[in-house]
Amino acid sequence: MKKTTIQDILNFKGGPLFATLTAYDQTSAKVADAAGIPLILVGDSASMTMYGYNTTLPISMEEMLLVVKAVVRSVKRSLVVADMPFLSYQTSIDDTVKNAGLFIKEGGAGAVKLEGGKNIKAHIKTLVDFGIPVLGHVGLTPQSFHQLSGYKMQGKSKTDAEKIMEDALAVQEAGAFGVVLECIPDELAKKITQSLDIPTIGIGAGMCCDGQIQVFHDLLGLSDSPAPKHAMQYESLYDKMLKGVKAYMADIKKG
Ligand code: KIV
Repeated sequence: MKKTTIQDILNFKGGPLFATLTAYDQTSAKVADAAGIPLILVGDSASMTMYGYNTTLPISMEEMLLVVKAVVRSVKRSLVVADMPFLSYQTSIDDTVKNAGLFIKEGGAGAVKLEGGKNIKAHIKTLVDFGIPVLGHVGLTPQSFHQLSGYKMQGKSKTDAEKIMEDALAVQEAGAFGVVLECIPDELAKKITQSLDIPTIGIGAGMCCDGQIQVFHDLLGLSDSPAPKHAMQYESLYDKMLKGVKAYMADIKKG
């Protein structure tokens, strides 16, 4: 079975819209892979979905490596992108190379994702120069939760929109093979998508991006708390699982 390559992802530019998804363990990875999802992101959203933290900030490289390895072992075709956790790359280019290298060498990932634009252009360029493919991430960058005063739509003012456009261009210039656009106005996402030669992958950024990404747990309703506004929810599996466990308990009680 042919593995998805970086070139396959680049070929989506201007072509058919494509769906991508996060995954964190064998079940989510197998389901996404079997459905034909070309790119699986092992997101630092694992901090919440797998480890029960409140934000993406606490998750460590060690915790991320465990979920990256589980996903890599479980897929046959999808390109696996490992999300670099908070402070695993912002601190220095040396840290960026060391930690991205761990995801590729030890974790078996095919690429890494970093949040940021102009501020991490040199970090992205160094990774790409060393042969490590990079997916960028601009707009709402959840690792800047405190600085942004919470999870809010970004790029609403002219100045903010211009900054996000500059960030997306910087990511492309640094050599990234794609860029996630998170929670920005539809019009801005459209403008960025039209301005870039690499595919844009939107979440909460309208339908004019080249592709979309969703969090596995939001898509399938695997959590008991309400999904974010931009979630596209197709199932309510948490309720179904609860029903199943309750039915089991009732049967045991009945003898
Ligand atoms: O960590 C994550 O799941 C992400 C996606 C929302 C893009 O970064």
